[in-house]
Formats: sequence, C-alpha cells, structure tokens
Amino acid sequence: MNKKSFGLDIGDIAIRAVELKLDKGGFSLSASITSPTPPKGMMSESPLDEEEMGNAIKKALKEAKIDTKIANVALPENQVYTKIVEMPYLSDRELSSAIYWEAEQYIPIPLSNITLAWNVVKRSEKPKQNEKMNVLMVGAPTIIVKKYQKVLSLSGITINTLETEILSTIRALTFNLDRNASSPFIVVSIGSISTALAIIIGRDLIFTYTLPIGGNAINRAIASDFGLSLTQAEEYKKAYGISNSSVGQRIEKATEPIMSSILTEVKKAVIYFSQKYQNLRIEQIILSGSTARILGIDKYFANGSGIETAVANPWKMLVSQNIPKEILNSGPEYAVSIGLAIKDYEEQ
Ligand SMILES: Nc1ncnc2c1ncn2[C@@H]1O[C@H](COP(=O)(O)OP(=O)(O)OP(=O)(O)O)[C@@H](O)[C@H]1O
Ligand SMILES: [Mg+2]
Repeated sequence: MNKKSFGLDIGDIAIRAVELKLDKGGFSLSASITSPTPPKGMMSESPLDEEEMGNAIKKALKEAKIDTKIANVALPENQVYTKIVEMPYLSDRELSSAIYWEAEQYIPIPLSNITLAWNVVKRSEKPKQNEKMNVLMVGAPTIIVKKYQKVLSLSGITINTLETEILSTIRALTFNLDRNASSPFIVVSIGSISTALAIIIGRDLIFTYTLPIGGNAINRAIASDFGLSLTQAEEYKKAYGISNSSVGQRIEKATEPIMSSILTEVKKAVIYFSQKYQNLRIEQIILSGSTARILGIDKYFANGSGIETAVANPWKMLVSQNIPKEILNSGPEYAVSIGLAIKDYEEQ
C-alpha cells in the first residue's frame, strides 16, 4: 500500500496544498506549497478572474509537483452556515426531512439556494429516554459550490468532497487522539477575515461558531496606531507579535480591542459548555490558522482565560517528522490542508 492524497485550502490570501503519502506506518509528507491567491480571489463573478484563479491553483500544484487530480477542498467559514443542532432520536429517513425545518430556522437565505449536508455526530445505540442526538448541519450557497467546481475544473482538478475549514482543522488536530480518553478542548482558528471556534469532546465536534474578526483587523489596528501602511503593519505583526519587546507591547496595546473580542467569544463558549456539560471542563485552548503564529498570542489567551493554551501543530500526526525547515513552524497554517488530505481515511 502506498497511496497519496491531497488537500487544497484556497484562502483569501494564500492557496495551500498538502500531499500526504500513506504507507503501512502511517502518513508522511509528500509535497506542500503556499502560493499567493490572486487579488480578486474566489469571489469575483468575472470569468477572467475565475480563469486567473484556476491558473494560479494549477501553477501552484505544478510547482509543488503534486500530480494527483482529485482533491478534497474546503469552503471558507464565512461563506457557509455550520451548526450543531440538537435533535430527538430520529432514523436517517426522518432526519432527512426534519433537518430542513432546522435549516430554515437557522439559515437566513432561501433553502432553494442552499446545498445542505448533514451528519449525525454521535448516536448512542441505546438512547436513554429523552436523550438527544447532535447533528452537524452545513449549508453552503449553491452558487459558491458551483463557483468552486468551476474554478477547480479550470485548474484541472476534480473535487472529491467539499467541507468547511473548521471540520478539516479539527480532523487534523484530533487524528491521534484517543476518542474516549481525551479531555474537552476548544479550537480557535483565526484566519484573515474570520475566526472559527469549535468545542471538541473526544474527537466529536459539539459546538461551532464563526465571528467576523481575523488577522486583517489586527493589521488595521497596527497600521493606524503606528501610522504604517497595511503591508508594513503585517510585517510588524509577523516580526514582533505581542511579545515582551517594546514594539511588541505597543502592538499588544493597539490590537487589544480585537484580541479581547476573540477572547470574549472564547469565554462565552466555555461558559456555554460548562452549563451544558456540568461534569466536564474545557482543559485546553488550541490556536490554529495563520494568525495563531503571532508571537505571544498563546500567553494572551492563557492569561485571559485561565485555560492552558497551545499553538496547533498538525504535523504531529505524521509518522515521519522530516518536515522541511521552512514550514516546520507553519503548522497552524497547514491544519486545513492536512485535515483535507486525510479525509478519505477517516474512520466512520
Ligand atoms: N507568521 C505569521 N504571524 C502572524 N500572523 C500571520 C503569519 N502568517 C500569516 N499571518 C496572518 O494570518 C492571516 C491569515 O493568513 P493566511 O495566509 O492563513 O490567509 P488565508 O488562509 O488565505 O486566509 P483565510 O483562511 O481567512 O481566507 C493574515 O491576517 C496574516 O497576516
Ligand atoms: Mg485559511
């Protein structure tokens, strides 16, 4: 057995692909690439921009020498409605009609324009009386699904499955966890324009929520405080973070309103959890997404929440640790593409 699989994460800022090789021992890295997303990105309606996107993906894959033509692809969190709904115990058939009632309440656009998918997170074999089941519901605007299909076919790729970024991230981060022994934790995945929160028990997602704040807002805060351009602000952010240096401390102060609004949402999620699962406690915050690479961000969340905080390292799930030096510290950036690459091997 020697199989390759590949995950493609098309972000607002970067296109990232990871190809993994599976052999008897487990997964190892076969190829990876990060390449800039063309300025118009995925959201432009113009066929020329779509072609440009398609070409950019094709070029990135060629450069990485990834020749697999079938990929798992993630949709951006801020374009998709993802929710865990609690429902009474239903058969698959009952669920397939009941889920539309739930979707109607949660999704603010007509369901005729939505591609809806759902999945029972966990169903006990012998449910107790009144026990509920958690169903993961994902609704993506059909127009966006079609757009992804079109752009990817322009780049010569067939989509195997589409899912949302947070699901890929969780898969990468929980791959090696013992389903029954691991303690509850919260993943905070901070991208450029949005942040996704997810609470996991064992390996099961029990809550997820997205807020419209991310690394770009941090750049704006730095730019305005220091009187810099956004590009310079981004460089400052990457170089100093919210570290102990004097520049770092000024960045910390300038970005406090943004950081604290993310922290507040994390605390709210923790309170929600503790009310619902009174005998369990969230024991760890895991920061993912490229913004998790800001120096000092783990300390900020740990101090602000009183919960142990770590920066995600999805490379940990690979059996061979011969990760190129340039990307060794970029784990949090690659969580989505790694999670996509292992999707086909997930246990049911
Ligand atoms: N080394 C780093 N340190 C701090 N922040 C970083 C670092 N690298 C990237 N970022 C920030 O992370 C954010 C997201 O960047 P990324 O390259 O992941 O974009 P993306 O995946 O295209 O975004 P999205 O997933 O939101 O579409 C940006 O705001 C960027 O400034
Ligand atoms: Mg991203």
